[in-house]
Amino acid sequence: MSQEIKKNIMDYETVDFDSATCELLLLDQTLLPNETKIIRLSTAKEIWEAIYLLKVRGAPAIGVAAAIGLYVLSARMKTETFEEFYPQFKKAKDYLDSSRPTAVNLSWALNRMDKICLSHKELPLSELMETLKKEALLIKEEDTWVCKKIGEYGLTLVKPGDGILTHCNAGQLATSKYGTATAPIYLGQEKGYHFRVFADETRPLLQGARLTAYELHSAGVDVTLICDNMSAMVMKKGWVNAVFVGCDRVAANGDTANKIGTSVVAAVAKQYNIPFYVCAPTSTIDLSLEHGDLIPIEERNGKEITEMWYEKPMAPQGVKTFNPAFDVTDHSLITGIVTEYGIARAPYQESFLEIFKKKQEENIK
Ligand code: MRU
Repeated sequence: MSQEIKKNIMDYETVDFDSATCELLLLDQTLLPNETKIIRLSTAKEIWEAIYLLKVRGAPAIGVAAAIGLYVLSARMKTETFEEFYPQFKKAKDYLDSSRPTAVNLSWALNRMDKICLSHKELPLSELMETLKKEALLIKEEDTWVCKKIGEYGLTLVKPGDGILTHCNAGQLATSKYGTATAPIYLGQEKGYHFRVFADETRPLLQGARLTAYELHSAGVDVTLICDNMSAMVMKKGWVNAVFVGCDRVAANGDTANKIGTSVVAAVAKQYNIPFYVCAPTSTIDLSLEHGDLIPIEERNGKEITEMWYEKPMAPQGVKTFNPAFDVTDHSLITGIVTEYGIARAPYQESFLEIFKKKQEENIK
């Protein structure tokens, strides 16, 4: 169902819940920037496909969508006892968890729902449903707070007038609000800072062109779109003071998986002495993985490279393709990892301990 275009793409919720119909609402990101359409989902297959096909994408938004989606599926299950309900809940959870492998926020959010479910199993099912709904909406609400805090810490790393380069979309469209890598930019804009942002187009799915350039431009930010292979040139010219990127999973040693091409940007930034910052909600830090080689990397259909975004195929029929959706940036190339509890710096194992300690202390208060 196409909705009336509101003033600005920034007025839309990336992920939402319709309490009247008990449906998951998503702003379909595969159609942007040409069409603004909210889709309504209520079956496991629809939700799985929406995540797999990137109708909702970006690590935090995937987590929020999965949590609300799992509640929507739970509320529709026709069961009378917890013993009947839980196996169905678990099956739906595992199914949604299989939609994309790299962004750890997906399993993080689903595990949070599972934990709440199990710790409230004594409740009547109707009350358990309310508890699950509250948790899913809390995950969404917390994401806005997390992004704002990342923005505040990120803003301390730049000054008015700076040039900032970003890759892929770690913007509002990838989160509940503000984005992660874009949060310092939006908060700076609120303070009247003038940043000059360079957005890599981000082959092959063009999240930088279709989403980052779109949302920043709509928000009135000074943004220049470049092809991925132009970042070295703008850095060499001295136009970039800092790089901010998002991430899908950070290992315990700081190695970071983010959209394919991120590690190239990091290597080039190092060459030109430009600080390279990863913006990471703590929900994206996976301390169970010692280093980045252990992060599962999603491989997608080669047609995304050869034909998907073109009117005609742009590569010979039958040519071999390799289409990893993410790469891992070595921690040695990262200047700092900006979380909602502060900025982690090498050695990351130690710095993360401090960050998680602070998180625990603040959550106890
Ligand atoms: O394949 P995508 O579009 O989901 O990849 C998204 C990214 O790589 C983002 O940078 C990352 O998820 C962080 S979003 C705040």
